[in-house]
Amino acid sequence: MKITIIGAGYVGLVQAVCLADFGFNVICIEKDTEKLRDLKFGKIPFYEPGLEDLFRKNLKSNRLNFTNEFSENISTSDVIFICVGTPPKKNGESNLSFVDQVSKDISKKIKGYTVVVSKSTVPVGTSKRIENSLKKNNSIKSFDVVSNPEFLREGAAINDFMRPDKIIIGCRTKKAEKILKKIYKKLKRPYVVTNNETAEIIKYANNSFLATKITFINEIADLCENIGAEVETVAKAIGLDGRIGAKFLHPGPGYGGSCFPKDVKSLIYQGNKNSTDLKIAKAVDRANDLRVKSLFQRVKKITKNKFNNIQICILGISFKPETDDVRESPGIKLARDIGKTKAKIKIYDPQGMKNAKKELSKSIEFCNDEYEALKNTNLLIIVTEWNQFKNLDLLKVKKLMKKPVILDLRNIYSKDIVKLGFQYHSIGNN
Ligand code: UGA
Repeated sequence: MKITIIGAGYVGLVQAVCLADFGFNVICIEKDTEKLRDLKFGKIPFYEPGLEDLFRKNLKSNRLNFTNEFSENISTSDVIFICVGTPPKKNGESNLSFVDQVSKDISKKIKGYTVVVSKSTVPVGTSKRIENSLKKNNSIKSFDVVSNPEFLREGAAINDFMRPDKIIIGCRTKKAEKILKKIYKKLKRPYVVTNNETAEIIKYANNSFLATKITFINEIADLCENIGAEVETVAKAIGLDGRIGAKFLHPGPGYGGSCFPKDVKSLIYQGNKNSTDLKIAKAVDRANDLRVKSLFQRVKKITKNKFNNIQICILGISFKPETDDVRESPGIKLARDIGKTKAKIKIYDPQGMKNAKKELSKSIEFCNDEYEALKNTNLLIIVTEWNQFKNLDLLKVKKLMKKPVILDLRNIYSKDIVKLGFQYHSIGNN
């Protein structure tokens, strides 16, 4: 079986590497010449734990190849995965121009029966749109379009690929279902086989439900702060109820990344377009957008709104640990808000600094490590829960800081820290 992946972005590259590791011959088509050159030389364009090793291993075995040659590869493929970007427009709608272009290009090149799989997160109706494009431009009409959404978390993508909770196959024929099941045979995980439209909405419902869970616990955290309760204990207790579950109940600075914010907004847009007022999704979206603003108010309260001659250290700028991705990162938003005051900002993040530099003002100081970033500061804000921030040498931290004040937005420390002389503020604890 010859598998072709179109697009070597995050989803495409993980899919390509893991399928090659299953023993398939995988060709990955990437248009960007710089990216393509790097990939051919064994360099991946982003940080993802475990990916580079697996990538190099499969590159060496020659099961994984990268090219920009389209025609020949498409015409000889049995299965084509579309993994191109679907960036959000301002109104929440997904921009499908890359998907449209690729389907048009594919339609002109496929020869025998081909399964075209939509892997990108795409609004309901996109499979139909691809089918129409293939029908319009292809005389053979021998194809199936499958919707097979991914559930990979950045920072844990290899594990999520190899041990998924479920595999969703949205298709219209048994033939296509069988081929997809053959590809994922090694995984031995539960399948949900359904039509394309249901598969498409599953992805949005999944991400939006998780975003709702996070937003809910963040609001409970706010209430806990005002009534003298402890949110961690509330989360633990409600998480023990099997109907709720413990995961995605960690309060924090709000969800970020390239998926949850975009997908909740897209779900709302799809609801509006289809006469369905998605009131919960709208509330979640609004609450999350307001969250960083309220955290900035918290910073102002701690500093008594005085920022003259104040240095603030931000530890963690990626939207979550184990990634260099800063898209929709609460840390970036908070740094921008603080940047409007007279305070001087110092930042350290183990992987996200290169991307953060492109987003933030030149006046911000990016440091070589956490201790350099803490030197002479009046406030430490922990935004991302990287493991190395969980074991800081607190006595050293106290000595380095001008004033030992911590705002811990991920609750990685506890109130006990005050015994060492710190002023400690966390999320959802009084
Ligand atoms: C998310 C989903 O978890 C994946 O299943 C999905 O495949 C992916 O989107 C996608 O659509 O491609 P990801 O955005 O990489 O994955 O990261 P998550 O681990 O889900 O975290 C998202 C945000 O929620 C982060 O800002 C994180 O800090 C925040 N979060 C997560 C919390 O604030 N509390 C939690 O308890 C969990």
